[in-house]
Amino acid sequence: MHCFNLNPTLAVATVAFLSVLPTAQAGGLYTKSSPVLQVDAKNYDRLIAKSNHTSIVEFYAPWCGHCQNLKPAFEKAAKNLDGLAKVAAVNCDEDENKQLCGMMGVQGFPTLKTVRPGKKKGSKPIVEDYQGERSAKAIVNAVIDKINNHVKKVADKDLDTFLSTNNETAKAILFTEKGTTSALLRSLAIDFLDVITFAQIRDKESKAIELFGIESYPTLVLLPGGDKDGLLYQGDMKKPAMLKFLSQVGEPNPDPAPAKSKGDKKKDKKAPKASSSETTSSTTAESSEATDIPPSTESKPKEAELPPPIPVITSTQVHILINECFHAKAPICVIAFAPAAHGETAEKALASLSEIVHKYTQAKRHIFPFWEVQADNEAIAPVFKGLELTGEVELIAVNAKRGWWRHYEGDFSSSSVESWIDTIRMNEGPKNKLPEAIISAVSPGETVEAKVEEDVKIEVDAEPGTTSSQGAEPTPEATDASPKHEEL
Ligand SMILES: *[C@@H]1O[C@H](CO)[C@@H](O)[C@H](O)[C@H]1NC(C)=O
Ligand SMILES: *[C@@H]1O[C@H](CO)[C@@H](O)[C@H](O)[C@H]1NC(C)=O
Repeated sequence: MHCFNLNPTLAVATVAFLSVLPTAQAGGLYTKSSPVLQVDAKNYDRLIAKSNHTSIVEFYAPWCGHCQNLKPAFEKAAKNLDGLAKVAAVNCDEDENKQLCGMMGVQGFPTLKTVRPGKKKGSKPIVEDYQGERSAKAIVNAVIDKINNHVKKVADKDLDTFLSTNNETAKAILFTEKGTTSALLRSLAIDFLDVITFAQIRDKESKAIELFGIESYPTLVLLPGGDKDGLLYQGDMKKPAMLKFLSQVGEPNPDPAPAKSKGDKKKDKKAPKASSSETTSSTTAESSEATDIPPSTESKPKEAELPPPIPVITSTQVHILINECFHAKAPICVIAFAPAAHGETAEKALASLSEIVHKYTQAKRHIFPFWEVQADNEAIAPVFKGLELTGEVELIAVNAKRGWWRHYEGDFSSSSVESWIDTIRMNEGPKNKLPEAIISAVSPGETVEAKVEEDVKIEVDAEPGTTSSQGAEPTPEATDASPKHEEL
């Protein structure tokens, strides 16, 4: 899969050979007119690391055959992701870029990495290896999955609070039939971070629909703030036109940020700005919007009506996990691994999960089983190792029957976790192949004895939290209860 740069003689020979081919460029693999953004060590920070947007970066060498093979797919991905995310390439053969490539841990070519802003302002970007298929489609899907979500999902019950909070700040609301937040809306929210607050309201929210007189979907409404009248967007759901419409109430953030030399004005503004925005956020509770931790904190039910926790598999009950999720016929499970002594992260993740289950249960809708698994035990080690999980708290979805699993990455706010769950429900987004060793390594055969009794008892215990419609993937009955494509 990779071209390893181990043999300099070979590399030289390949370069010499390629240089007689007409396709060889003097410099990199991509021409000036390529949709792929060409990045070097000097501008990497400004264009990629400091961007509010998500990028996928290819680290390549022009002589590498796999890199040349990737080029058409990568350029196609760049075209498809135009305006949504950045598709960039770094030529690691250039002396000036070698240090950057080394720092990024590049060992073979091509290496693809996604880069997106960390949760908190000013924190380091989150860099992850892309190891999916090298097709335009797979790349596009993976990148879309990594676009941070600053769009609040607002329900009828949250509407008043949402509208009255920071009522001087402009708000953009997309009324939609969909449960997930589109890449387009997420990218617009990123363009207008701290300028316009973005929200999405589902067609089911009848109070909101009536209040705004929404008759068709999707419809975008812009509230300029204060007592100014709302504006209705009637154009195509295409980025340039929407950007122009939204710019009526405020300029989008320039990306990349203006270069320093030009930015004397900006520089003067910058220092005070950082602190002033900090003070505003602490006094106006806007912080949850500014840092990708959407409404969970506000809309969290009051103490008294906290949703019931999801069922727990303690570290001595690993056989339950196997019976439920890791045998060859097991359907989708959502599993949160956390230490028995919950830290703050575990609390947050588990609260989000129970909130989601509660929501589905209340709406009498089908959802796959969710489990909390205490991860401080040897017995879990093979799973952790096999899936290369290293975090203290890890959230995954597994479909052993179909042989795939997915790793949740992001903050554990309920809205963010929920949109991940939505992508699983709708069979969207990238999946990883489940290592077969995991299923066999923990096959029920090894653990059944002496555990059967306990098993029965615990399953009964677990029942209340996981409704009887646990079937996961839509069996015919489950489909009746919740049509799989209802949200498309
Ligand atoms: C806007 O917020 C202020 C202060 O929170 C409040 O006094 C005012 O009534 C609000 N206006 C509207 C239209 O909600
Ligand atoms: C990123 O977003 C912040 C607001 O959170 C904004 O001030 C800044 O200009 C943005 N940076 C870029 C490069 O767009």
